[in-house]
Amino acid sequence: MTDLKALQDEISAKLAEIKDAQALESLRIFYLGRKGRVADLFHEMATLPREERPRFGQELNRLKEFAETAFRKKQQSLTLFLAAKSAFDETLPGITPRIGRLHPITQTIHEITEIFSNMGFEIVDGREIETEFYNFTALNIPLDHPSRDAFDTFYTEQGHLLRSQTSTVQIRTMENRKPPIRILAPGKVYRPDAVDASHSFMFHQIEGLLVDERTTFSDLKGIIHLFLRKLFGKNIQMRFKPHFFPFTEPSVDVDISWGKGWLEILGAGQVDPAVFKAVGYNPAKVQGFAFGLGVERIAMLKYGIKDIRLFFENDVHFLEQF
Ligand code: PHE
Repeated sequence: MTDLKALQDEISAKLAEIKDAQALESLRIFYLGRKGRVADLFHEMATLPREERPRFGQELNRLKEFAETAFRKKQQSLTLFLAAKSAFDETLPGITPRIGRLHPITQTIHEITEIFSNMGFEIVDGREIETEFYNFTALNIPLDHPSRDAFDTFYTEQGHLLRSQTSTVQIRTMENRKPPIRILAPGKVYRPDAVDASHSFMFHQIEGLLVDERTTFSDLKGIIHLFLRKLFGKNIQMRFKPHFFPFTEPSVDVDISWGKGWLEILGAGQVDPAVFKAVGYNPAKVQGFAFGLGVERIAMLKYGIKDIRLFFENDVHFLEQF
């Protein structure tokens, strides 16, 4: 006697292998056609002893229903599959999405701000369009002072200017807050410089300012040293050279070295009492230090880039390397 359970499994297995409508129809005729396997079984039933016929007939009907449903379902899923397949050609080569990345200057800014964030500095924003007061006067650079030349900039006819240093953010921050202050201000600055391998009319600076009741020059030195070690590694050497900035007193230029030659990397100093007066602080009650560094200079050192113009030409082949 035919094992109906085995036949049901056989139909399921065969159906699972079907991949097109024609094969499905042939298979359907083979099992469910007028002269198919199921029809044969109904004929076979007549040869059974009378008392076995009802049970066998019942099971055979169940098998027939199972097979009809299974074929219908297969028909449906095949239609869906074929429709999707005609819309999507899996033999075509794939399109690799172009994954963007941060500009090396932005990456350098992030790296530097992260180091100072870990030392408790808050990152603040300033303005690129400023007034004479914030770029010069409040920073103790009077109108007729020769040091104004060093920070010369672009002016508009309405009495505004593009800031030539992020030191403007020192003033804006102190005007709005009381000490203690510990901020870092990254951003763009502008100078009317002719563009060459080491100059650009626009570049980035990061300003640092710390104000408290009492801060010492060795606090400044310690923080700068720690920062440089974090950024350039433990073997970095540092030296402070006396310098002049109108807004700090005493002032220094900071050089770094890996063993041969010194490179100037940032300016710094104790906040000048005249600056405290300009923002309404009592210079007898507060002390502070400030520093400013050029981001392009640091990125060029870090990545071994010889020409500042590469940063601003938007050449993807260059930018992709970082
Ligand atoms: N603003 C100075 C510059 O642009 C850098 C500086 C900032 C120096 C803060 C001292 C203190 O050169």
